[in-house]
Amino acid sequence: MKATFKIFRYDPDKDKKPYYKEYTLDVEPNTVLLDVLNDIKWHYDGTLTFRRSCAHAICGSCGMTINGKNRLACQTLIKDLDTSKPIKIEPLKSYPVIKDLVVDMNKFYEKMFKVKPYLVNDNPPPGREFLQTPEEQKLIDEAYSCIWCGCCTSSCPSFWADDDYLGPAALLKAYRFIFDTRDTLTEERLRIVNDADGVWRCHVIFNCVEACPKEINITEYISRLKLKVVTSKL
Ligand code: FES
Repeated sequence: MKATFKIFRYDPDKDKKPYYKEYTLDVEPNTVLLDVLNDIKWHYDGTLTFRRSCAHAICGSCGMTINGKNRLACQTLIKDLDTSKPIKIEPLKSYPVIKDLVVDMNKFYEKMFKVKPYLVNDNPPPGREFLQTPEEQKLIDEAYSCIWCGCCTSSCPSFWADDDYLGPAALLKAYRFIFDTRDTLTEERLRIVNDADGVWRCHVIFNCVEACPKEINITEYISRLKLKVVTSKL
């Protein structure tokens, strides 16, 4: 089948302003969009710039806006897109564009590191390791599958309005450790999220849930965080 891809292009060294360039190709319906982008880059236009690495929805590199929705290019099948008109591909909204589909994620990473995205426990393990019951593990089961793609935070209207807001990805990361029974930094983490730029900026819009390629119910975890904050003696 033939499909047209309308791709956001911007090279700040050459272009006065961004523009869209269309590429029409023969594609198989079962092809993923990342393979199409590779095809364009390798055979039609070597200047097209985008991030990718694992090609298996693991590394989080290929987040982009595809027909208005944030998704991973390596997880998006052409047959799931409306090919009756050009498929619009844009960089993730609200992060500064470096070139074409590549955005500057530094501010996103700053937020992720602000919540200390690692387990803290300086006590010696009781036995060989810190154990959890299946119920305790279930609390964080879904939350730890975040791949840091930034699709959720980029889709959040609260983040569009205030880029100091921690955003859904960082709050999900905070949840993942606050609800991890092995972690000992709970109070400090709760203080970090109980901030003017923390959990209270979430207005339960659910865009993050729709955008998450791992189908994590981020809004629910942020709501649990809010409850934990108000029931904790901070
Ligand atoms: S290339 Fe790794 S998530 Fe898409």
